[in-house]
This record gives sequence, structure tokens and C-alpha cells, in this order.
Amino acid sequence: MEEQIGQIKNNALQEIAAAGNDGRALEAVRIKYLGRKGVVTELFKSMAQLPPDEKPRTGEKINALKVAITRALDDKLQITSQAEETKDRIDVTLPGVAGRPGKLHPVTQTIQAISGIFTSIGFKIVEGPEIETEHYNFETLNIPLEHPSRDAFDTFYLKSEAKYLLRSHTSPVQTRFMEKNKPPFSIIVPGKVYRPDATDASHSFMFHQVEGLVVGDSIKFSDLKGALELFAKELFGKSTKMRFRPSFFPFTEPSAEVDISCILCANEKKEPRTTEHEKRKCGLCGGRGWLEILGAGMVNPKVFKNVGYNPEKVTGFAFGMGVERIAILKYGITDIRMFFENDVRFLKQF
Ligand code: PHE
Repeated sequence: MEEQIGQIKNNALQEIAAAGNDGRALEAVRIKYLGRKGVVTELFKSMAQLPPDEKPRTGEKINALKVAITRALDDKLQITSQAEETKDRIDVTLPGVAGRPGKLHPVTQTIQAISGIFTSIGFKIVEGPEIETEHYNFETLNIPLEHPSRDAFDTFYLKSEAKYLLRSHTSPVQTRFMEKNKPPFSIIVPGKVYRPDATDASHSFMFHQVEGLVVGDSIKFSDLKGALELFAKELFGKSTKMRFRPSFFPFTEPSAEVDISCILCANEKKEPRTTEHEKRKCGLCGGRGWLEILGAGMVNPKVFKNVGYNPEKVTGFAFGMGVERIAILKYGITDIRMFFENDVRFLKQF
């Protein structure tokens, strides 16, 4: 009988080991050995046939067998349930999986930088519609019928009787605002504009502008100069110089195109580079020493008349700049298309 008990113990332990972490297989082993009709129970029953003096010893052996099987099963079941528990448990002490923080688009950042400078000197931000009428995009701004920008090749027209179009500049917001407001005021107008240009490194059919308009009873050209100079120094650095070149816009008189000293080369010297040798040096300004950044001028009295202002009583200045152009100069970007391709490798640099 003792031998038999030893054999049963070996078998049971092997079967428990073979069951692995399978809870059902372990339960089957338990029933087989420890169940009501199990092997161990049968052993206890068979003790009845033993001579009385063997009973205590054999009883002890069978008991030891029962304890050994029970313990082996318990150990296994504990491991199994632990494994199952940890499988479902979330370890709250592990470091989290952080999402990559988003950023504002470089065009948005540039608009905010430009707007921030002007709002710091009292300008208010105003917006206007991107779908415009010929009336606001051209007529109120004194742009004559024969002006090339009114040609269908130079403006996106909508298929509509009412001559709707995508605004080709932010200037229509000047007259829209003046019709509804009384001077004095200082506004800037950021927004998208559209021109059917063939796309290349420096042209895009859609880009952004920031318009500026100041109207009051004695606004002078020197005010325009002062505001723009402050803007250029804030955005491009204190040593930035400005240059006004006479130009023409139908809605300003006189008009100017405004340049800043080249941020790559001109700031190194007192005078912009002029010799042929120096001209070849700068990739940004082509050696000219100056970079065009915006158009500006004193509001044309005809524009004031168009919105019902008395040009004898009010004067004002206006300016308009391309946001992408400013960003390209500020960050040394080589291709305007990069702004609109949504390539994260480009965008995450800003
Ligand atoms: N609207 C002009 C353009 O798009 C820029 C401009 C605005 C010029 C205001 C003068 C005054 O080119």
C-alpha cells in the first residue's frame, strides 16, 4: 500500500505540472484525486481492509498524500489567478503615453506676431468676407474697369450673375469698415486672399495678407512712416532700416512700396552692399541690400468720398503686406508651397 501511495503522489504531481496554468485542467486533477469519489477518498475507504495495527501509519501516509496534492494545486491556482489579475490590471505608476503637443501654423504665428505689434499701439483687429463683390474689391477702392486685376485671368470669379469673386486683397475691408464706422480709428485686417497665379516657389493661388488702415482728422505721412518703422524694428530687429519707393495704387495717393534693409547682409554694414562683388554675396536680397515687404500710402480722397466721408475733414493711411512673404524673410524659407503641404517635418520647426 505504501508503494501505491508513493506512485499516486508522483502521478498527481506530474498531472498538476502538466496542467500548466490552465484553471480547468487543474480543477479536473483536483476532482480526480480529491473529489468525493476521487483516488484519495478511495484510499481512505480501502483502509477498512487493513489489519488494525497498520491503520494509523497508513492513515498518516494517505493524509500526507492529500496534503501534498492540495498544496501543489493551491500553489498552482494562486500563480494562475495572479497571472490573470496582472493581465487585466493597469499599472497606474507607469509613465503615461504623452501625445505630441500641437503647434500653431507658421502663417498663424506670423499673423499673430504682426497683429501683436499693431495691437500694442492701439490697432483693433477686424475681419471681412473672402467672397467679395466687384463693388468692394474694386469699385469702392477706385480701381477702374480697365485695371488688369479686374480681368477674369487675374481674379477668381464665381459663376454667378452678381459678379461675386474671391477677394484679391484685404483692401475691400477698408471700405466695408469705413461705411459702418466713424473716424478716428486704427484697424488691421488679417485674412486669406486669392489670385489665379500658376503655383511655383514664390506664387500661390491663395495666400495671406494683413491690411492696415488709420483714419482721423490729421493723419500724416509721417504717422504712416512711424507706425511702419516701429513694426519693422519689432519684427526684424532694432537695426532694421526702411526705405520708401514711390509707387502707385488706385486707392492711395501718394503711394509707396516699402523695403527693409536686408536682414541677412545689410545689417552687417552701415550702407547696403552696392559693388558687383558684394551683390553676388547675398542669396536673400540678391545683393540689392533691400527687401520689399509691403505697399502703403495715404488714403485716396476718392475712397473717402465712396464711403461718405468728407475728404476735407479726414485723412488716413493704409498699408498691406503679404504674410507668407514676411515669414519667408523672417525664417529663411525657400518655397511658399511648404506652408500649404502640411508636412510635419517642416511645420514642427516653428
Ligand atoms: N492691396 C494692395 C495689394 O494687394 C496692398 C496695399 C494695401 C497697398 C493698402 C496700399 C495700401 O497689393
